[in-house]
Amino acid sequence: MKEITSKQYNNWSEEHDRDTMKYDQLSRKSFYSFFKFETNEKKLLDIASGTGHDLQHYRDGMKCDVWGVDASEKEVEIANDRLGEDKVKVGYAEALPYEDNSFDIVVSKYAPQGFEDIEPFYKEVNRVLKTGGYFLILTTHPMRHFLEKTEKPRDYFKKEIVTSWIYNHMLPLQEYSHTMNDYFSDYFFKHFQIEEYLEECNDGPVIEHVDGENYPAYFIYRARKK
Ligand SMILES: C[S@@+](CC[C@H](N)C(=O)[O-])C[C@H]1O[C@@H](n2cnc3c(N)ncnc32)[C@H](O)[C@@H]1O
Repeated sequence: MKEITSKQYNNWSEEHDRDTMKYDQLSRKSFYSFFKFETNEKKLLDIASGTGHDLQHYRDGMKCDVWGVDASEKEVEIANDRLGEDKVKVGYAEALPYEDNSFDIVVSKYAPQGFEDIEPFYKEVNRVLKTGGYFLILTTHPMRHFLEKTEKPRDYFKKEIVTSWIYNHMLPLQEYSHTMNDYFSDYFFKHFQIEEYLEECNDGPVIEHVDGENYPAYFIYRARKK
């Protein structure tokens, strides 16, 4: 099943490439506002970098030395075309094709919610990030996945594959549900120090919300490796 959830973007990479710039701009702006540190010439890894819009911004706007990884071959192809250089590799968040202690900044945006488990991803971030390095994520809020559960009564704690309808209910996305404790786990607090946290529903009730309910659609944090 992991293959299906992580490779599904191969089916709609062109729509994803176009619509992320249409629907995800407010959350993108919030995420970028979390970069409250010097980025010039810093080596940055974007995990699950999609079609590379953010990598382009980290390179051209923030002046980082950018690298990426994504499970979808098609997303990687579009990202490398966009960058004009082969800086994005096909691979998994749970087995990063990069060396130990090789990055100053590791980010993952609108992606961890789709990983089957969070801890293998955290272990890989901890491995490739330098001590004191920055770790930033934006991920779909577990509350949304709870509302998308179809088995009744809903069980917040049970991992299920839920279907998230994104981009104005156009694309059905299969994702693993998570709890807040998956993200703020013993492993996380042992290896990272959180500096800033925000929960938001910036991309708008019409576009991202389930049944018009008002709730945090995603959260963002910035942490540092201890
Ligand atoms: C919603 S897109 C986000 C893309 C980009 N980060 C952004 O914010 O626009 C999620 C991405 O995660 C990738 N992905 C899903 N599971 C993955 C995994 N286990 N390892 C690496 N990439 C994965 C998908 O191929 C897709 O490109």
